[in-house]
Amino acid sequence: MDHMADFIATMPKAELHLHIEGTVAAAKVLELAERNGIDIPFSSEAELLAAQDYGQPALANFLKYHYMCTDVLRTGRDVYEITRDFLDRCVIENVRHVELSFDPQVHIKRGIAFDELIEALNKARRGSAVSTQLVMCMNRERSQDSALEMLDLAARHRADIVGVGLDSFEAGNPPVKFQEFYRRAREEGYRLTAHCDCDQENAVEHARQCIHVLGVERIDHGLHVLDDPQLIADVIERDITLTMCPTWRVSDPEPRRLPALRRMLDLGLRVCVNTDDPEEFASRYMVNTMTEVQRRGGFSAEEMTRFMRYAFEGAWLDDAQKAAFLTELDSHLARHLRTGKEPAA
Ligand code: HPA
Ligand code: ZN
Repeated sequence: MDHMADFIATMPKAELHLHIEGTVAAAKVLELAERNGIDIPFSSEAELLAAQDYGQPALANFLKYHYMCTDVLRTGRDVYEITRDFLDRCVIENVRHVELSFDPQVHIKRGIAFDELIEALNKARRGSAVSTQLVMCMNRERSQDSALEMLDLAARHRADIVGVGLDSFEAGNPPVKFQEFYRRAREEGYRLTAHCDCDQENAVEHARQCIHVLGVERIDHGLHVLDDPQLIADVIERDITLTMCPTWRVSDPEPRRLPALRRMLDLGLRVCVNTDDPEEFASRYMVNTMTEVQRRGGFSAEEMTRFMRYAFEGAWLDDAQKAAFLTELDSHLARHLRTGKEPAA
């Protein structure tokens, strides 16, 4: 392993944009389909992996695949196992803190009650050395009433859920649709984020609504903030963190959104690098994603550390917890710079 790859692998890392439903490995999808007696349109790992190589429109095709895979999750045990496996992977990758999104509406519809879902997630979290927090994500194609019901169900688990988000089909489902949900969530003390996905219609307007109507502290993806100088200024003024996901599919030539990541850093935007749904993209987990972003995007060690600094700073941890992680991160960079140069080829 070269010096830079080793630096990334051993860097203390945080991930803020991660859907637990997107961490089910192809083999596990098949195992759970079998165990739960669910028909899925795939009979081998190879078929699942081939289906991850879809074309445009990327979000719709991605979501179709994503929901076919999440269909196999039917019990608290299933959710526990995938969360445990994901957190085991975080240990290997030196991911020290994860803010883990979950989609309660998807699970409730398939027979996993809200309480059972949280208990399964918590059991896996308790069994792990990784620092974790839960973000309850609403599917934006569903009604605001359904989202408000989720807030009611979450009330008993208020201490276990740090924040709320908004994901799934963005076309025709603008942030303002959830204005009342966000108002109530804020009032109840939840931290606020929402997806503004890439290449969506009205993308700039959606980002504007997230900032000015919903009052989010983070934007998940947030690529199109770059399309409007006023939004860039708003994001800087409000210290909003953009949780970009430079994921790629098998046939993509390189990580997507590299020029945007470069521009965001140059503008001083608080941008971090995340995997989104690591088992559903060729980019997979943090080490691989960050290593390829560094190589293909030509980012320096200091810049790779800056992405991670923004992740820890944008995490919904208290100041002391953040400071401890940031001290480790700074020492990691200092050690790398001291031990120096890449070995001569
Ligand atoms: N965007 C929208 N919905 C999602 C995503 C995403 O990145 N991942 C899982 N559900
Ligand atoms: Zn996402």
